[in-house]
Amino acid sequence: MRKKREQVQIKTEEQLEKMRTSCRMLGELHAKLRDFLRVGLSTWEIDEYGEHLIREMGAVPNFKNYQGYPASICISVNDEVVHGIPSKEKILEDGDIVSLDCGLVYDGYHSDAARTWGVGKLHPNAEQLIARTRESFYAGVRHAVAGGHLFDISNAIADYLQPFGYGIVRDLTGHGIGTKLHEAPVIPNYRMPMLQKGILLEAGMTLAVEPMVNLGTWRVYWEDDGWTVRTQDGAPSAHYENTIAIRPDGLPEILTLMPDEPNELENDR
Ligand code: MF3
Ligand code: CO
Repeated sequence: MRKKREQVQIKTEEQLEKMRTSCRMLGELHAKLRDFLRVGLSTWEIDEYGEHLIREMGAVPNFKNYQGYPASICISVNDEVVHGIPSKEKILEDGDIVSLDCGLVYDGYHSDAARTWGVGKLHPNAEQLIARTRESFYAGVRHAVAGGHLFDISNAIADYLQPFGYGIVRDLTGHGIGTKLHEAPVIPNYRMPMLQKGILLEAGMTLAVEPMVNLGTWRVYWEDDGWTVRTQDGAPSAHYENTIAIRPDGLPEILTLMPDEPNELENDR
């Protein structure tokens, strides 16, 4: 028998308001972690500080113990793509790029967002990779509108990145989010076949859109720790993720921006 596809949850305005609260807290956390980063810090110290901040806000780190993940923040340096495990032995160096993927649950609602930051002076290629990964998120999220289709988001991300020759990670995807960290639907960041459109997008959907982009090949492998995902060619990788909502008026709303982070969607309106 064929497995029934999981339903995409539609949130009411009251539920969206709870998503906004959880996500606002996460945006604030990201700004604090950004300001905390410096050469010489261990990734373990970043995780400690992040977990402390989450609990101080009265929230709970939703990554901790998720399928056995041992920390609160996923910290992935350089050729680590995602799900890097914080360690006292991993010390940030000048020129590193560091992806912080964080989530929390507050009042029953989950939020999930990632940023990649440079530490010290970056190679221009790394700087560009980070900026374009963020831009690819925006290319996608502009298509997160009621009446559109899910793979419009995927195709827009892929089409934005295509001219740069980057590798788009295929082994991991974005996802729905709400009362669970991972809900339906699965959101690919690569181009889908012409005849597949994906589900119809509707107001009240809350989604985590999260392109993971490599300077070299798209191919990745899992380390023996069972979590850390690395690029196969050792080239650096960037990640940019926000939890978003499709508002009652059918337009996208980005929920996890940092308080001082510009919202590029405002330039469209
Ligand atoms: N943001 C991550 C994702 O969507 C969640 C990581 S779960 C953890 O894949 F267990 F690795 F923390
Ligand atoms: Co996610």
